[in-house]
Amino acid sequence: MGKILVTGGVGYIGSHTVVDLIENGYEVISVDNLVNSKESALEGIERITGISIENYEVDLCDLNDLRQVFSEHPDISGVIHFAALKAVGESVEEPVLYFRNNVNGLINLVDCCIESNVKHFIFSSSCTVYGVVENLPCTEDSPIKPAESPYGRTKQISEMIIEDSFRNTDVKAILLRYFNPAGAHKSNLLGENPKKVALNLVPVITETALGLREKTVVFGDQFDTRDGSCVRDYIHVMDLADAHTKALQFLENSPEAKKLDSYNLGIGKGVTVLEAIKAFEKVTGQPLNYEIGPPRPGDVVAIYADHTKATKDLGWNPTRGIEEIMESAWKWANRKN
Ligand code: NAD
Ligand code: WQD
Repeated sequence: MGKILVTGGVGYIGSHTVVDLIENGYEVISVDNLVNSKESALEGIERITGISIENYEVDLCDLNDLRQVFSEHPDISGVIHFAALKAVGESVEEPVLYFRNNVNGLINLVDCCIESNVKHFIFSSSCTVYGVVENLPCTEDSPIKPAESPYGRTKQISEMIIEDSFRNTDVKAILLRYFNPAGAHKSNLLGENPKKVALNLVPVITETALGLREKTVVFGDQFDTRDGSCVRDYIHVMDLADAHTKALQFLENSPEAKKLDSYNLGIGKGVTVLEAIKAFEKVTGQPLNYEIGPPRPGDVVAIYADHTKATKDLGWNPTRGIEEIMESAWKWANRKN
């Protein structure tokens, strides 16, 4: 096995994946400029695995610095690319920042991969590439519709750049389209710990319960769903981490792996906002202060994954549901460090 370069390895999904890679015998280095993460995640990785990984505090947009990392590690065989800005609202306010960071960073990385004869490339994509999905569950063949935000467009554009740039090379690539990642590592030594404010449902719920927010506002309860609130597919971060390791193993070991393929990563079950709140109340034994508010502009009413393809090709079977997600997120929110 060659060395694996993880970009964004100090971030939320990246750090959990680094743990899973190490536990599966991989040697890992990270490139992360800490724009949205804290070095304490590196300590978490070390405490869980007993291995201290090297993080290069390099901005992917700086091609010279990035080339330097590749030249110090000529044995990199695979790259898993998490590093990106991910806040949908911020991308509407500052689209150029998002295109510069997410697209320029990817172009530099792809360039280095080709120069350094990297064999395998895995990209953090998102269900947001599908836009509004008409037929649920969403399969990989669902049409790619106009994205709802500049952030979503950076993911669509990145997928196209990967397809075109690696076409005449030996690199095989996998696009992993995550649905709604949430939860934390069972050790409680890793979890979501961003520098920017997290506005996703699960951290909003835990912050409300901690008293850091007055209440959780449910964005609409009059939609055409089971209970009127929006439906999403919440996927535990450790199930996601496992999918990355399996995708890498598939590229390494399966001659039938295509030059480029995409996989949906969701549990395959829709959960409404009100059901998510009930799950939180059940596992914590405490009521949540919430109220119904107006719909959030741009929200898709319902989306959840069909992950049959990931199960068939990668052998991926996510096992953790919304209660386990809430339990681990709550434990993490109450950590002492
Ligand atoms: P995160 O912000 O915790 O992690 C991203 C990491 O990349 C951060 O540590 C940040 O410091 C680093 N980074 C950003 N720009 C960089 C740059 N130019 N150079 C070097 N490092 C840089 O986010 P996450 O939730 O772990 O997301 C990881 C990936 O998954 C992202 O590409 C994101 O778009 C994608 N994704 C996330 C979600 C989600 O809801 N969390 C859903 C779908 C897809
Ligand atoms: C989940 C549900 C809200 C907050 C975003 C990105 C997507 C992907 C995942 C990166 C929705 C409701 C939320 C609140 C609420 N990220 N909600 N009150 O919007 O599904 O997806 O993260 O690729 O691209 O768009 O996630 O966690 O914001 O919302 O009622 O305070 O919770 O309406 O139904 P979303 P979310």
